[in-house]
Amino acid sequence: MKIFKVVALSLLIIGLIFSVAFAKKHLPEERGKVFFDDPKFAGGTKACNSCHPDGKGLEKAADKKVFNIMGKTQKSLEEAVNVCIVNANKGKAIDIKSVQMKEIVAYIKSLKGKM
Ligand code: HEC
Repeated sequence: MKIFKVVALSLLIIGLIFSVAFAKKHLPEERGKVFFDDPKFAGGTKACNSCHPDGKGLEKAADKKVFNIMGKTQKSLEEAVNVCIVNANKGKAIDIKSVQMKEIVAYIKSLKGKM
């Protein structure tokens, strides 16, 4: 019976380790990255990643207060993301308070300093 207890305890520990690892893989910026790579994000036809490969060129976006994309001025990162969603991805603007927007923004913020 001792072996049974050892096995049961090992399984429990393995289960715990897996759930912690799983939780860590699902940070907001990681979910944002999934959207960033998805051509169908926000109903669009092009992935953000196709124009900003691995977020290239967006490393400074998190700290900017004013954006200028395609001849228009945006006053927040969320607004800038929506301009790209509508004009570049050909999708529909998403609610700036939505979880998806927060995750995309978290991903862009995670690019800071990666050059
Ligand atoms: C068809 C190409 C294209 C796609 C697709 C695209 N973008 Fe852009 N994006 C641009 C261009 C062009 C600019 C303006 C020039 C620049 O700053 O690089 C820009 C600018 C930005 C900026 C402002 C950068 C800055 O520092 O001023 C952000 C943030 C951004 N895009 C996010 C996104 C996100 C998020 C997506 C996906 C929802 C996306 N873009 C999809 C072409 C694209």
